[in-house]
Amino acid sequence: MPLGVAVIGCGFQGRIHASNVVASRDTELLLCADLDEPRATDLAADTGSTATNRLEDVWDSPHIDLVVIATTTHTHHDLALAGARSGKHILLEKPMAMTVEECLDIERVAEKCGVVVSVGYKFRYTAASVAARRAVPEPRVLHAHTLYDPAPPGASSWVNDPALSGGRLVSSLVHSVDLLRFLSGSEVVRVFAEGQASGASGTSGDPDTATATLLFANGAVGSLIHGTAGASALVSTWSFQTAASGVNATIHDHGRRLVLHRPGEVDEVVIDPTDDPFAAGTAPLLAATVARIAGEDVTVPGPRDGTISLLVSRCIEESIASGQPVEIPEL
Ligand SMILES: NC(=O)c1ccc[n+]([C@@H]2O[C@H](COP(=O)([O-])OP(=O)(O)OC[C@H]3O[C@@H](n4cnc5c(N)ncnc54)[C@H](O)[C@@H]3O)[C@@H](O)[C@H]2O)c1
Repeated sequence: MPLGVAVIGCGFQGRIHASNVVASRDTELLLCADLDEPRATDLAADTGSTATNRLEDVWDSPHIDLVVIATTTHTHHDLALAGARSGKHILLEKPMAMTVEECLDIERVAEKCGVVVSVGYKFRYTAASVAARRAVPEPRVLHAHTLYDPAPPGASSWVNDPALSGGRLVSSLVHSVDLLRFLSGSEVVRVFAEGQASGASGTSGDPDTATATLLFANGAVGSLIHGTAGASALVSTWSFQTAASGVNATIHDHGRRLVLHRPGEVDEVVIDPTDDPFAAGTAPLLAATVARIAGEDVTVPGPRDGTISLLVSRCIEESIASGQPVEIPEL
């Protein structure tokens, strides 16, 4: 029996999730919910489901097992709590919430209510990331290169409003932090960052551009460059490297391609089969979430991962503001 699913937030990312839910044999899309009724109606029409602008319809339905929350970030905390208290499993978009305290709150309530929460860290699930993790299980050095155009295609302008997104920098930096944690198999223990406001159109005066060094608990070191001043046509917005002695895995093409280099060998290339670069990794993330709900022994990026990626990103902001290295506090 497929899981009944409601997608809350029928915008850019909600559409991607809805299409995955429809495509999977393990899920059935029942409700498309959005406060903006025409958006819900359009997505419901496109997916053969029902539209609502009343969230009670989601919480009260005995047929909904899983809610996908793809709303503006400032709503994530309240919606996740309402979902968990209604006994719904949750696929929650990133950043998990606005503050670390809100994330910890979601962790607590989800555990108390016994529901699965997975966080939208799709980049862990591209074929390129999975192969990179396997090829370099103990990296010594890692790098994240995430440079956006000032107004990336499909991006919503609310992301530039810190009151709605948590900040332009943090809103996407959490992806880099999560993937670096995944690729390193370790935790970030210290960061040292520099940053500035790029002046890109629409952004607030807060820093939206950063470079940072990261120290991992296993001794690996990492760096990242992140900003909205201009994307790279060569390696794309999402490019990562993970390397150990004698092996380098370079992920590029929006996280979809991997070039694996070992000296003296022919380079190996792994290509993710997903056509839409923005959808890459999202279908396997849904599949893993469904398997986890079914009690299978699979790992999903859970609420603690959501909390840590926000915590480290906030520490990067703190380091930019103070000009000092910041030790990541124990949770
Ligand atoms: N994982 C990824 O790669 C990825 C990519 C893009 C966006 N996101 C995340 O997905 C979320 C949505 O981003 P988007 O780009 O789709 O935004 P969007 O503006 O395209 O869509 C958001 C939708 O949520 C609706 N909404 C807002 N508050 C609501 C509420 N309380 N109840 C019901 N509906 C509500 C809005 O009306 C809108 O239709 C954000 O948290 C964003 O950070 C993740």
